[in-house]
Amino acid sequence: MKTTLLSRALAVAAFAIGLMGCSRALIPADWPSWERLNAVPVEGAVPGHEERFRIAFINPVGETVKPVVANRSVTWKYSDGSIILKAGYQGSAPPGKGETPSKLSAMIKKPGDPRARGGWIWVVRDTASGIESVIDAPYCVDCHSYANGPNPFGDKNPAGDFRDYVYLPYTAHADGG
Ligand code: HEC
Repeated sequence: MKTTLLSRALAVAAFAIGLMGCSRALIPADWPSWERLNAVPVEGAVPGHEERFRIAFINPVGETVKPVVANRSVTWKYSDGSIILKAGYQGSAPPGKGETPSKLSAMIKKPGDPRARGGWIWVVRDTASGIESVIDAPYCVDCHSYANGPNPFGDKNPAGDFRDYVYLPYTAHADGG
C-alpha cells in the first residue's frame, strides 16, 4: 500500500513540476523600469544574498504603501500585487547602467496563493537560464521576518516597526528622482 501511495505522490510531484515548467514567469519583464529602493548598490554579501552588489526595485503597486501609525507603533502593509525585486550582480565592480544581473530575487504580495509565506511569494530567477523557482520552504521568509524588528541592515529598524518582511522599506524618491 505504502509504495502505491509513494508512487502516486511522486507522479503528482512530477506533474506539478511539469506545470511549473510551462507556467508563465512570475517576475514581469518590465522590472528594470521600476523605481529603485537604494540609490547606491548594497555591497557585501549577506547570507541568502551572495552577490557582491545588489539593487532593489519596487513595482508601481508597491509604491502605494503607506506606513500606518497607531498607538505609537508603525506598521507597513504592502497591497496585493506589490513586487519588490532584488537584482544581484556577480562582478567585482559596481554594476554599470543596463548591466544584466546574474540573479533576481523577488517577493510578490499574494496572500491568497498557497505558495505564499508571510503573505509573499518568494521567487528566484537565474537570469542565464531564465529558470524561476518558488521558495515555499521557510528559508526566505524566516530570515526576512527579522526585518520586522531591530536588525543590522538598512536603517536597522530601531523602533521595531512591523515592516511586512521588507528590509529596505519604500520611501519615495530613494533614487533622488
Ligand atoms: C539570511 C537572511 C536572508 C535570507 C535567507 C534571504 N534574504 Fe532577502 N534580504 C536579506 C537582507 C539583509 C536584505 C536587505 C539588505 C540587502 O539587500 O542585502 C534582503 C533584501 C531582499 C529583497 C529586497 C527587499 C528588502 O527586503 O529589502 C528581496 C526582494 C529579497 N531579499 C528576496 C529574498 C528571497 C526571494 C529570498 C529567498 C530565496 C531571500 N531574500 C532570502 C536577508 C535575507
